[in-house]
Amino acid sequence: MRAADWDQRYTAGQQWSSGPNALVAELLTDVPPGDAVDLAAGEGRHALWLAGRGWRVTAVDFSAAGLARGQEQPGAERVTWVTADALGWSAPQAALDLLLVAYLQLPEADLTGLLARAVGWLRSGGRLLALGHDVDNIARGVGGPQEPGVLYSVERLSSAAALLDVDRLEQVRRDTPGGVALDTLLWGRRPA
Ligand SMILES: C[S@@+](CC[C@H](N)C(=O)[O-])C[C@H]1O[C@@H](n2cnc3c(N)ncnc32)[C@H](O)[C@@H]1O
Repeated sequence: MRAADWDQRYTAGQQWSSGPNALVAELLTDVPPGDAVDLAAGEGRHALWLAGRGWRVTAVDFSAAGLARGQEQPGAERVTWVTADALGWSAPQAALDLLLVAYLQLPEADLTGLLARAVGWLRSGGRLLALGHDVDNIARGVGGPQEPGVLYSVERLSSAAALLDVDRLEQVRRDTPGGVALDTLLWGRRPA
C-alpha cells in the first residue's frame, strides 16, 4: 500500500490497539532504556509506550495521518516524529540501542535490504525486534494481509538474522478477538 492509502485508513479512524503488542511489551519490558527507532510506527503505540518507559524514541512512518494520530496522544511530546519512507530514511550509523519494526509488510527484497541496512544503525549489543504477519497466517491464522509476497517467514528473515546474535527467530502465535494469528519474530543483538 502507498502512503496515500495508509493516510486514508488513518483518517478514517484508529487502526491498531492503543497499547503495545503483547510480545513487544514482553520482550522489551526489562531492557534498559536508550536510543530507539520505531520504524513504520503508524499511530505510534510502541513509540509512545517506549517513551513512557524512558526511551528516547524516533517514530518514523510515511503516513503523516498515522503519525498525526500518535501526536495527539498523551506523552507525544517525548517522541520525535518523522514522516519518511523507511526505504529511503536512515538513522546514523551505530547510534541505536533498539530498532523496532512491527508489521511493516514489504516485498521480500525491500524488507531484507532494509533490515540489512538497519543493522548498521545499531550500536554493538543494540537490539533488533522485527515482528510481522507470517506467510502461514493466510492458511492457518486470522486477519492480516493476504498477499504472500509481503508476508514474513523464518526463511525471509534469515539473511538479517545472519548479521545478528539471535535470541529468537521463529513463528509465534498471537491471540486476537477473532482467533489465533501467526506472526514471525526476529529478536537479536548486533554483535560486538
Ligand atoms: C500495519 S501498520 C503497523 C504500525 C505500527 N508498527 C504498529 O504496530 O502499530 C504498518 C505501517 O507501515 C507503514 N509503512 C508501510 N510502508 C512504509 C514505508 N515504505 N515507509 C514508512 N512506513 C511505511 C504504514 O504507513 C503503516 O503505518
